[in-house]
Amino acid sequence: MTHPASGNVALATRDLKHVWHPCTQMQDHESVPLVPIVRGEGAWLIDAEGRRYLDGISSWWTNIFGHANPRIAAALADQASTLEHVIFAGFTHEPAIELAEKLVAITPPGLDKVFFADNGSSAVEVALKMSFHYWLNQGHGEKTRFIALSGSYHGETLGALSVSDVALYRKTYAPLLLTPFLTPSPDAYEGEPGENPQQTAARRLRELRTLLESHAHETCAVIVEPLVQCAGGMRMYHPDYLVGLRALCDEFSVHFIADEIAVGFGRTGSLFACEQAGVSPDFMCLSKGLTAGFLPLSVTLTTNDVYDAFYAEYNAGKAFLHSHSYTGNPLACRVALETLAIFRDEPVLDRNRKLAAHLAQRLAPLRDHPHVADVRQTGMIAAVELVADKATRRPFDSKERRGMRVYLHGLQQGVLLRPLGNVVYFMPPYVVTEQEIDLLVDTAIAGIERAVAG
Ligand SMILES: Cc1ncc(COP(=O)(O)O)c(C=O)c1O
Repeated sequence: MTHPASGNVALATRDLKHVWHPCTQMQDHESVPLVPIVRGEGAWLIDAEGRRYLDGISSWWTNIFGHANPRIAAALADQASTLEHVIFAGFTHEPAIELAEKLVAITPPGLDKVFFADNGSSAVEVALKMSFHYWLNQGHGEKTRFIALSGSYHGETLGALSVSDVALYRKTYAPLLLTPFLTPSPDAYEGEPGENPQQTAARRLRELRTLLESHAHETCAVIVEPLVQCAGGMRMYHPDYLVGLRALCDEFSVHFIADEIAVGFGRTGSLFACEQAGVSPDFMCLSKGLTAGFLPLSVTLTTNDVYDAFYAEYNAGKAFLHSHSYTGNPLACRVALETLAIFRDEPVLDRNRKLAAHLAQRLAPLRDHPHVADVRQTGMIAAVELVADKATRRPFDSKERRGMRVYLHGLQQGVLLRPLGNVVYFMPPYVVTEQEIDLLVDTAIAGIERAVAG
């Protein structure tokens, strides 16, 4: 049956009758349009009335090779008519085997085991549980705590939210959560006057050392988003912090969990952000770009040392216990393999370097804007920090929702920008062209002018 009501307004009306959207005060949709998308094409999304929106944020940072990418779509269709899913306990399949082999080959050395899950938060849950359980199996049940960075975001299930420090998501649910130790982020924006990012990283490492000196004995792991704290406002830091973190984790017998869910797969200029520091973590969480925005899939990679601590005769009761019905889904694994094949066949990182340079050049003039305190960039992530007062860096009151004004301006102009509070950021699919970057930036600048006025 075809539904007669299929225009934008009709679809939005039907949606709002039954659908409850994430990260949304649903009442906003009394004034903010809900956009029904019917098709995607490269960096563009197309609504029910044919209006096009340039996807400046890769649909929540997942889409790297364009919407409805034909090569990935074909692999998915082929897999769908072969094997769509199979229980992953006691059974296996070649897409998962091959994907594990390939991930081990391309991730930093030492990550030799791959545990599958089906979304980013779950990959973080796996890393936290596995780290705790490793220490328990080693006779260190006293290790029950985690260390997270201020301003971090690792997802919104209870464990992942516990090690996150973005008040918007955490505050309400705090009574339900584990309490991590928070260590100050090496975020360069929060550096002391006159300090360079490298010096900020060194100072934050000294603070972490002090924390570890008192609490390492009860700490399982330190979890970080390497180089860019994304949902916390695209805050960026120097790779030296990761070098120092690796050394401190070794010195104090604490695991290093690298959450590369947002920054992995070429986003920061290297295939994985940890490469820029030349470090291998004990756990690496991947999702988002892993399937190029096609299907939910995540992995937690770890070392043989961790794996071996669970490997025992059944009645020793040491096995790792964590399962999701869609773990290692063959469709998603096949899509991930095709995504990796694109990295193999095309000069993705070279192309990204050129696009990133163009983006940097186009954003540079914003540094002089009276309401811009910072323009920062790491590879294909760029961010503009809007402030009420440039001299003191006093932020706009979040209740004024300045970022929302930029979002609405973007929608009117056919550009999807979705600021994080007062931070307008750019995280486009890698298939974007320089002309499309120009459109993104020009629209953002005009949106910023509207947002800061009055
Ligand atoms: C660094 C990081 N970790 C974890 C997550 C959670 O992933 P998911 O939304 O798939 O649960 C996100 C999502 O944005 C993220 O940016």
